[in-house]
Amino acid sequence: MAGALGIHVSSIQLPVAFISATKQTLRRGTAIRCAANTPKKRYTIAVLPGDGVGNEVIPIAVEALRLAGSLEGIDLRFEELPIGGAALDLVGVPLPEETLRKAKESDAVLLGAVGWPKWDNNPKHLKPITALLQLRAGLEVFSNLRPITVFPQLVDSTYLRKDTAEGVDLMIIRELTGGIYNAHPRGFTTNEQGDEVGFCTESYSASEVDHIARVAFDIAKQRRSKLCSVDKATVLEGSMVWRKRVTAMALEYPEVEVSHLLIDTAAMDLVRHPRQFDTILTGVMFGDILSDLAAMIPGSVGLLPSAALGDSGPGIFEPVHGSAPKHYGKDTVNPLAAVLSAAMLFRYGLKEENAAKRIEKAVSDVLDRGFRTRDIHTPGTTLVGCKRMGEEILRSLDAIVSVSNGSLV
Ligand code: IPM
Ligand code: MG
Repeated sequence: MAGALGIHVSSIQLPVAFISATKQTLRRGTAIRCAANTPKKRYTIAVLPGDGVGNEVIPIAVEALRLAGSLEGIDLRFEELPIGGAALDLVGVPLPEETLRKAKESDAVLLGAVGWPKWDNNPKHLKPITALLQLRAGLEVFSNLRPITVFPQLVDSTYLRKDTAEGVDLMIIRELTGGIYNAHPRGFTTNEQGDEVGFCTESYSASEVDHIARVAFDIAKQRRSKLCSVDKATVLEGSMVWRKRVTAMALEYPEVEVSHLLIDTAAMDLVRHPRQFDTILTGVMFGDILSDLAAMIPGSVGLLPSAALGDSGPGIFEPVHGSAPKHYGKDTVNPLAAVLSAAMLFRYGLKEENAAKRIEKAVSDVLDRGFRTRDIHTPGTTLVGCKRMGEEILRSLDAIVSVSNGSLV
């Protein structure tokens, strides 16, 4: 199927200048290394660029996946599928059955963003955003990983004081398919006074909390073994169950230092002293808010990748930012969130750690070489557009010779 980008199955099309840059990088040595490395592993990636800037950043992430994959002997097949407004235009629904089916059949889903003002007044079932919620539910991706890292090269981009932001490296684990977003009962009614009422009931069951808490404890263990669970247990019943279950699970993980914060205190502490956090575990709504707030620590939501994972089956890998109607079509947005999501796709989706590290190293290298998109531009660095940033990432990827034992050469 031809997608919104005019892309056909397995061939993401990039602007000519971009492709020629890729070919040049391939000529400089990749092809030789590839020939020696006959592809061993094959995966299918469902590519859902969606709306707005999704169409600018996703082709770059695809090329990063392709090149990093080929350098590791991984053969990726890309299949572009419509979602969100792009799907509404094409077939009249935000999540076509075929998109969901092929996403389920894939090894991982790379998603751009959904939403556009044109559809803002649609009924809820015909809003682009509904596609995202349906896709998450359809793939049963209940855990949402949102790392927040302050790259040493970008410490001047923070909205906080530099000495507050320096060295921040935390992971938000957000529950994704339960809580208030997926509330029952919910709806609209009229109260006794004749007032229109919208309602949506938050609930968390013990097993839902256990499910996501287990993910968070396991991830915290692989990090700095500090887990902070965020809730509103002083007020909300769902949070009371949440806190009880997390406290109980902590007994199984004596090596993990566990703390609990109320959401309001957590928001304050994330701004006041973000370095105290390692792994944050929270529900769907608090996680949504905290992750955008935390984006201001590195200084741009254009730097934030994410992964949505289930117990099995494909995960969804997407930049945290939205479709950004104000910025679309200007070649100014930051592709790093999408490219870092591609790294998460390798790490968590395909368990290809070396390929993930290649992408992360390439991002770091591009920043070392001084390239910055508008959102992270500071004096003394080189302002570039989205496409050029993509070209530089490919150049850096090509320049990394090998990855061994997790370290890069
Ligand atoms: C996010 C977004 C989504 C969410 C919206 C688009 C439904 O804000 O991924 O953070 O709230 O989950
Ligand atoms: Mg959000």
